[in-house]
Amino acid sequence: MQNIDWKNIPFGFSETDYNVRCYYRNGNWGEIEVSSSNTINMHMAATCLHYGQEGFEGLKAYTGKDNKIRIFRVEENAKRMQKTAERVLMAPPPVELFQKMVKKLIRLNKRFIPPYGYGATLYIRPLLIGLSPEVGVKPAKDYLLIMFALPVGAYFKDGFKPVDMMICRDFDRAAPLGTGNVKVGGNYAASLMSLELAKKEGYSSTIYLDAREKKYIDECGPANFFGIKGNTYITPTSESILPSITNKSLIELAQHLGYKVERRPVPFEELSEFDEVAECGTAAVITPIKRIVDPTLQKEFFYGEEAGPVCTRLYQEYTAIQFGEKPDPFAWTEVVEID
Ligand code: PLP
Ligand code: COI
Repeated sequence: MQNIDWKNIPFGFSETDYNVRCYYRNGNWGEIEVSSSNTINMHMAATCLHYGQEGFEGLKAYTGKDNKIRIFRVEENAKRMQKTAERVLMAPPPVELFQKMVKKLIRLNKRFIPPYGYGATLYIRPLLIGLSPEVGVKPAKDYLLIMFALPVGAYFKDGFKPVDMMICRDFDRAAPLGTGNVKVGGNYAASLMSLELAKKEGYSSTIYLDAREKKYIDECGPANFFGIKGNTYITPTSESILPSITNKSLIELAQHLGYKVERRPVPFEELSEFDEVAECGTAAVITPIKRIVDPTLQKEFFYGEEAGPVCTRLYQEYTAIQFGEKPDPFAWTEVVEID
């Protein structure tokens, strides 16, 4: 067994045994290759380096209570990667190839899958990059889909403990007709400055408003936003939000549990009306929000030191499905045979 302190693993890079790679050349995807190298050898003029022709995904494998390894809605990640690829003119990897690579990667790194009971998971990071050298602005001909995996704990260090968030009005993450609704690295580059400012002021992350009017809630740095009002789960719609698979699943779960769901623009002022608010994503799972501060307008919204009852219930039901503690009525999970 590994000498890993499963209880205290951070959300950060650590080395595992293997990664898997597949090249797209001459209009075709090749065979899946296994590598134990952490580096990629590429042309210095590759389009991913100069013109940001790249996209990525994030998903997890879970050890269940029954010791089986489960993956969660991988097809959704595969389809989102296809949308990302199409938006920045990359070759979209077939869904079956994506799924095959995820399973192979998990099997190859099985000794790094955290055991059940620590809340830790194996995080899988698929990355698609344009490889061909170009100096004029144009798409590459050749691409690489690479996936690596590493054990992770909670994204925010306190796990399911409410965090403080800052509204960012000085920088936008994405433009309305830009690339916010797909998962390209440029969106994250655009978020770094505001994230740094927020962290310096003691906030865990930022909340972005819509770039056009600064009137509506868009999303959080690495996660979608939702609020609870009475019996209703409310989450914003906008052109620049990344469609979160966690949010999509929580919407179905909330309905299944008898909550009402509203998907619509959420005006900034409505922050004062929510009983509970939270961010949700693969890395963040559900992270409740304690306080939202808008330094520009000098406004503060407070939701409580502890997670509210609806967020807590959703968190428990959601993670119980992922960790195989409860039946999965939605068929979201798939058991991966390891040996
Ligand atoms: N929004 C952004 C900007 C993200 O980076 C992520 C993480 O992938 C999400 C939302 C959550 O998406 P998902 O639930 O599919 O992980
Ligand atoms: C994820 O939730 O998987 C993400 O990609 C968020 C962040 C780490 C970029």
